[in-house]
Amino acid sequence: MKKLIPDFETMKQAGEKISMLTAYDYPSAKLVEEAGVDTILVGDSLGMVVLGYDSTVPVTMEEMLHHTKAVRRGAPQTFVIADMPFLSYTSSELALLNAGRLIKEGGADAVKLEGGTHVSPIVQALTGAGIPVVGHIGLTPQTAGQMGGFKVQGRDLESARQLIHDAKAIEEAGAFIIVIEAVPRQVAERITTSLKIPTIGIGAGLDCDGQVLVYHDILGLFERFKPKFVKQYAQLGQEVVRAVQSFHKEVKECKFPAEEHTFGLSDAVIQKLYG
Ligand code: KIV
Ligand code: NA
Repeated sequence: MKKLIPDFETMKQAGEKISMLTAYDYPSAKLVEEAGVDTILVGDSLGMVVLGYDSTVPVTMEEMLHHTKAVRRGAPQTFVIADMPFLSYTSSELALLNAGRLIKEGGADAVKLEGGTHVSPIVQALTGAGIPVVGHIGLTPQTAGQMGGFKVQGRDLESARQLIHDAKAIEEAGAFIIVIEAVPRQVAERITTSLKIPTIGIGAGLDCDGQVLVYHDILGLFERFKPKFVKQYAQLGQEVVRAVQSFHKEVKECKFPAEEHTFGLSDAVIQKLYG
């Protein structure tokens, strides 16, 4: 059963944790849906894990749409959230236009955007127009450069208070979920208990209402770097190399294709063909 927006708040109230995982294309979405994850995020992390960029900054609206459409086709029964890429929500007008495209053309159920108090007018404009919004605070990769790199946020009293303030602003602006990235667990816990909407943590400890990770990270398909908060549940990258090596070797050694992979003619046709 596809989750609906009110279900997430109900889950928080009932103390049922929410699982969120990224997916970027038809096969990954299909597998994530089959596994029964509560909601899929088409993260702009796709820029790094599937397009090979150094950050999420270069990701375009066209790329987000392309991948969101594929995810929707792969996971028709799952609640899908699409990331709004960097600079696609610098004004309410632009945000409405771009979020509208992710929903109407991409087939997303909601959009996610990064930032605290300063983006709350944008969140308000979108939710006011009927577009469900997920917030994202703490380490915000699109502006990580301004933060001095990929660093844990909210470690001192002042920045911890700012994060709590940001979370409240995003909730009041109408967001229905908030992602908290790379924040000390005590700060995430404070935010979680002070909000009505669910918090989804990534590197934010066990007290959040749910957890999100990147598909390629949990499967061992992205080895360029591994943040502390990632848990690898499989090493598929190595598995893929092994399989491809076997194919390569069998081609070289004339072991593939075998009889069972090969089409043949009937004896009657063969006789006439050679006869
Ligand atoms: O782009 C992404 O994958 C994300 C999650 C890591 C929260 O924003
Ligand atoms: Na993202």
